[in-house]
Amino acid sequence: MPQPQHVLIVGAGCFGLSTAIHLLSRGYRITVVDRAATLPAPDAASTDLNKIVRSSYADPFYASLLERPSITGRVVDGEISIMSDGRYLSGVMNLIPIDRPDSYMHAAYENDKALGSQITGLLNATSIADHFPKGLRLGSRTAAGYLNIEGGWANASEGIRRAVDIVRAGNGEILEGREVSHVNFGTAGQAGGVTLVSGEIIDADVTIIATGSWTGSLLSDVALGLDDRILATGQSLGTVTLSDEEADLYRKCPVVLDFDTGFYLFPPNAENVMKVAIHDKGYVNMQRPTPSIGSRLVSTPRTITSHPVDGTAIPREMVDRLHSGLASIYPDLAASHSFDTTRLCWYTDTPDANWLIDFHPEHPGVLFATGGSGHAYKFLPVIGRLVADRLEGKLDPDLAARFSFTRPRKAEDGTRLDQTHRNLDEQALSLDYIPEN
Ligand SMILES: *[C@@H]1O[C@H](CO)[C@@H](O)[C@H](O)[C@H]1NC(C)=O
Ligand SMILES: *[C@@H]1O[C@H](CO)[C@@H](O)[C@H](O)[C@H]1NC(C)=O
Repeated sequence: MPQPQHVLIVGAGCFGLSTAIHLLSRGYRITVVDRAATLPAPDAASTDLNKIVRSSYADPFYASLLERPSITGRVVDGEISIMSDGRYLSGVMNLIPIDRPDSYMHAAYENDKALGSQITGLLNATSIADHFPKGLRLGSRTAAGYLNIEGGWANASEGIRRAVDIVRAGNGEILEGREVSHVNFGTAGQAGGVTLVSGEIIDADVTIIATGSWTGSLLSDVALGLDDRILATGQSLGTVTLSDEEADLYRKCPVVLDFDTGFYLFPPNAENVMKVAIHDKGYVNMQRPTPSIGSRLVSTPRTITSHPVDGTAIPREMVDRLHSGLASIYPDLAASHSFDTTRLCWYTDTPDANWLIDFHPEHPGVLFATGGSGHAYKFLPVIGRLVADRLEGKLDPDLAARFSFTRPRKAEDGTRLDQTHRNLDEQALSLDYIPEN
C-alpha cells in the first residue's frame, strides 16, 4: 500500500471538516489546525443557531448539488447528515416578487419545479396564510411565494460538532488553539505546511486553506492576488426570545426567505429563540493586518475574539432594518419584542458567489477551499467531496472552471440587491444588545 499523503487543513469550519472527512475516507493522513481553543470556534460563521437548508437556487448547479436523501436527512454513502433531528423539516417559504419574472426567486422556482422538488406555488396572501397556523397575523411582504417542504433549517453548531467527532473517529488529527503565523509555500518537490504563531512548524505535502473570512487577513503579507477574489463581509443577525405560548405558535411556521429585501427568519428553536437576519452586500472592516505592510488594508472579521467587549454589536441601521424585516413578516412579534442579542456573521464572499476550490496558480502545494459566499453550510455533507476531487485532479472540468482561482471576476450574485459594500464604522454600532458580563 502506498504511503498516504499528509494533508494539512487550516480551519475547522464547514469547508475544512467536510474536506477532512472526505479525504480520510480516501486514505489520506489528515491534520486539521484551528486558531480556536475549543471547537466549534465561537466566532466562526458556521457556529450559529441555525442555517437555511434549501434547494431553491436560481443556479441549477446548486439547486441539484444536495441530493434529495441528504435534504431529507438520511446518510448517503457514509456522508454525514448535517440534520440533527427531524425538526429541521419546517419547509422554506420563498417569497416571490410577483411583478418581476426575471427575479432570482422566479428562476429558483423554475429550477425547483424541474427538479421535482415538493413545492407549492402560492400567488396571493390568502394562499400563503394557509401554510401558517390559524390566527397568526402575517405582514405585508407575504403576498406571493412558494413553499418547498423538503427544506428547512439545520442546527449549524451541532453539525460542526458532529463533523469534528467524525474526523476524530476516523483518526484525523484536529489541533485546537493553533494560530497560523504564515503558510510555507514549498518550492517544487519540497513539502510546504505552516508555521504557527508559537513557532512550531507543521510540514505537509499539501496545505488546504479553509480559513473562511480570515483568509484575506491571514495571507495578507503575500502577493497572492486574493484581494479581488475573496472579501470578508459582516452580515447582521439578531435574536428575539418568545414566550412559551408564542413559541408554540411560531414553531409551526416555515423558514421565511425574502431575497427581494435580503431578510430571512427561522422558527424559534428549542429554547424559544428566533433568529432573524439579512443577507446583502454587508459591511467590510478594512484593517492593516500587520503593521509592517504600510498602507495595505484588508477586510478583517470583527468578532468576540478580536473585540471581547462589543464584538457582537451590529450597526444601528441594521438593528432598524432587522426590526422592520421582522415586522414585514410577523408584525405582532415586532410590536412586542426587541432583540436579545445581535451579531455580525462574517461571510467570505467571491464576486460571483461561486466558491473558491483550487490550487494557487503559483503555489501547487496550496489548495484553497473557501469563498462560501453565505451559502455553503447546507452543503456540509458534500462540499468536501468537491475539494477532494480537486486535490486528486478528478473534479469535473466545468466545476473546476466554476471554482477556479483564475476564473473571470465578474460580479453577479443575484441574491444581493444593494450593490455597494458599506464600511463598518465603530461609532455607528448599537451597543444596546451586547451581553453584560
Ligand atoms: C388566491 O389564489 C387561489 C389559488 O391559488 C385562488 O383559489 C383564490 O381565489 C385566490 N384568492 C384571492 C383572494 O385572490
Ligand atoms: C442544537 O444543538 C445543541 C446541542 O449541540 C442543542 O443544545 C440545541 O438545543 C439544538 N438546537 C435546536 C434548535 O435543536
